[in-house]
Amino acid sequence: MKFSVRKGDLSKEPCDLLVLNAFEGFKTFGGATASVDKAMGGLLLTLAQEESFRAKAETSFMLYTHGMIPAKRILLVGLGKEKDFSEESVRSAAALSLQKARSIGAKKVVSVVHGAGHGGLHPKQTAKAIIEGMMLGVYEFLRHKSSKISKKNPDEIILLTHNGQITTQVLNGIKLGEIFANATIIARDLVNEPAQTLRPIDLVNRTKAMVKATEGKIQMRIYNKTQLEKMGAGGLLGIAQGSDHEPFLVHMIYKPSKAKKKYAFVGKAITFDSGGLSLKPAEFMENMKEDMAGAASVIGAMSALPLLAPSIEVHGIYGVCENMVSGRSIRPGDVVVAMNKKTIEVTNTDAEGRVTLADTLSYAVKQKPDMIIDLATLTGACMVALGDEIIGMFSNDDKVAQNILEAAKLAGESCWRLPLVPQYRKTLESKIADLNNVSGLKRKGGAITAALFLEEFVAQTPWAHLDIAGPAFAERPLNTYTPYGASGFGVRTLLELVRNAS
Ligand code: BES
Ligand code: ZN
Ligand code: ZN
Repeated sequence: MKFSVRKGDLSKEPCDLLVLNAFEGFKTFGGATASVDKAMGGLLLTLAQEESFRAKAETSFMLYTHGMIPAKRILLVGLGKEKDFSEESVRSAAALSLQKARSIGAKKVVSVVHGAGHGGLHPKQTAKAIIEGMMLGVYEFLRHKSSKISKKNPDEIILLTHNGQITTQVLNGIKLGEIFANATIIARDLVNEPAQTLRPIDLVNRTKAMVKATEGKIQMRIYNKTQLEKMGAGGLLGIAQGSDHEPFLVHMIYKPSKAKKKYAFVGKAITFDSGGLSLKPAEFMENMKEDMAGAASVIGAMSALPLLAPSIEVHGIYGVCENMVSGRSIRPGDVVVAMNKKTIEVTNTDAEGRVTLADTLSYAVKQKPDMIIDLATLTGACMVALGDEIIGMFSNDDKVAQNILEAAKLAGESCWRLPLVPQYRKTLESKIADLNNVSGLKRKGGAITAALFLEEFVAQTPWAHLDIAGPAFAERPLNTYTPYGASGFGVRTLLELVRNAS
């Protein structure tokens, strides 16, 4: 699938499918669609109206041109309401258009640059959104299908514009869209992989492969169990002890020559969360291979940094293990000592993520970053609060929180700030240790008390915690470009963040 941009006339370009657009409730067409309709003698508008096509978001209308123009078929995609038009409408329309192109086996697709002429979108942003929507919208995880045959993608997709002045901007947007989408796909592939073939060592090896592909632009340090013992990573080791597979701590470093700032991205990495001895009921365990999605997003984001080349030093960190049941498992009531020397009573072994993050956040603090962002499939409670499509964000710093909300909006990843209320901190007190891993409030405010627990391990560092338990794994398609399965949520928010700051 090759993307390109060219100056040209849509009504004169031969192709298998010509993609045009309209806003919801259109009476007449505007811009590029109007000019093609004119070449079609007004047939496009007539047929669309006869078929009652309203151009709502996530809808489209296809017709044969019968030789009236060189394009064989036209696909009219709905952009939704003009007042709601944004990069997100573009991603959605672009994903749908490529899905339709695949369903008819189109080899050459020509598309308008949705919204470059109106809506106030920048041509670069628009082109980026088109590529993201297309690449993510046709994503499939076929590794474990015996027949790998799927619908074929077109060979070439040309973004055609009559305005020759924007082709460079569109080309830059195409490149950026490919970088953002590929990083998201890396995360999706990791999360979709069953825990059987993605054990802690496998996640480490796949990170190694990603780092190797950057040809020295990312450095990597790996700490094994013996080293973790020396470092005092009692949280990670404690949760890992019931599994047959060894835990690791992985530290990736992207260090440009003149860095203005230093960020640390930390990901939760439980390759499978059975709950441990506080065992999960069967239906809550089904998708627990997803419990390393935080780390997957960090790995995906790191892979893109050499290509984006921001002037920010970025540290990607995760502590990986499996939360299992055995005679060696950590027991409810056991006490572990985290890397920052705080002691934790593990009352519930299913609240394991925060215990491992206690160590990885402590390790991140030692790197003296200007900001830490952690991503974690941390609590079911966050899904009760916000549903399955929205990231719950917590921060000890209003500026950091604001920057993340802005980045998430640009990325099209819904994110909502939840309060880190200090009065709940006391509910994490333990009778025998410094902290309890669960709150006395039990399930009430569970996402908040989990975040308050994490805050104990970030010292004074400006920090944000993204609880991605809901959107990390889509149990139903969330939109046209987020199909069932791993979503890669978080990757593009992190990338927008470094892009904006550099
Ligand atoms: N990995 C889960 C959270 C989760 C739930 C992620 C659903 C994705 C989808 C986490 O380790 C967990 O089990 N949390 C418990 C905490 C409780 C024991 C305090 C929860 O949310 O129930
Ligand atoms: Zn758990
Ligand atoms: Zn978990």
